[in-house]
Amino acid sequence: MTKKRVAVLISGRGSNMSALVEAAKHADYPAEIVAVIANKADAGGLEVAHLEGIPAIAIPHRNYASKSEHEAAVCAALVEAKADIVCLAGYMRIISPEFVAQWEGKMLNIHPSLLPLFKGLHTHEQALEAGVRVHGCTVHFVTAGMDDGPIIAQTAVPVKTGDTPDMLAKRVLSVEHETYTRALALVAQGKAVMKDGRTVFSD
Ligand code: GAR
Repeated sequence: MTKKRVAVLISGRGSNMSALVEAAKHADYPAEIVAVIANKADAGGLEVAHLEGIPAIAIPHRNYASKSEHEAAVCAALVEAKADIVCLAGYMRIISPEFVAQWEGKMLNIHPSLLPLFKGLHTHEQALEAGVRVHGCTVHFVTAGMDDGPIIAQTAVPVKTGDTPDMLAKRVLSVEHETYTRALALVAQGKAVMKDGRTVFSD
C-alpha cells in the first residue's frame, strides 16, 4: 500500500493533528504525516510534531505583508513536503479561493459543529444559544465558502442540562479525533471523493 502524504496545518495545541499522527503510526493506515505547518510560531502542536520526528514548520502570517505572500510561502512548504493531501486542524485562517482551488478535493477541515449549523467561531455557545439537544463535529472538503464544502464524516454528541460551552467543547473534542482519523482514511483510500460539489462514497 502506498500511503498518501499528508501535511497538517494548525494554529494552536494541535490535538487533532496528534490524533492523525497516532493513527498514521499503524502500518495499515493509508496516510503518513509528512509535515506540520503553523501560522503562529508559538503553536503548541509544533513542539509535539517535532518530538515525533515530523518536520514542524512555523510560517507566521504576521511576517508577511499580504495574505497572498503568506499563502505562497505555505504552498511552497506543501510542495517541498510533497504533500498529496492537506488537513486543516484548528487552522484559524480564512483560506483564499485561489489557495482552495489549488487543493480542490485534497484539502480537509474539521469544524466543531454539525454543519451546516453553527459556522464560524464560538460554535458551542451558538449551540447552547440555539437550544439544540445534539451537537458534534464535521470533517468536510474545503471549498471557497467558510466552513462550507461537502461533508465526509460527522459525529453527534448529546447536549446535557447544565452544559457550559467548555463542557460541550470537551465532549465534542473527544469525538473529533476519531472522526478526523476516519475521514482522512476514507479520502486517502479514495473511498470518499469530491465530485461536482458533493462527496461521493464508494465501498
Ligand atoms: C478543534 O475543536 C477544531 O474543531 C476547531 O479548533 C479546535 C482545534 O483544536 N476548528 C475550528 O474551529 C475551525 N473552524 P486542536 O488544535 O486541539 O486540534
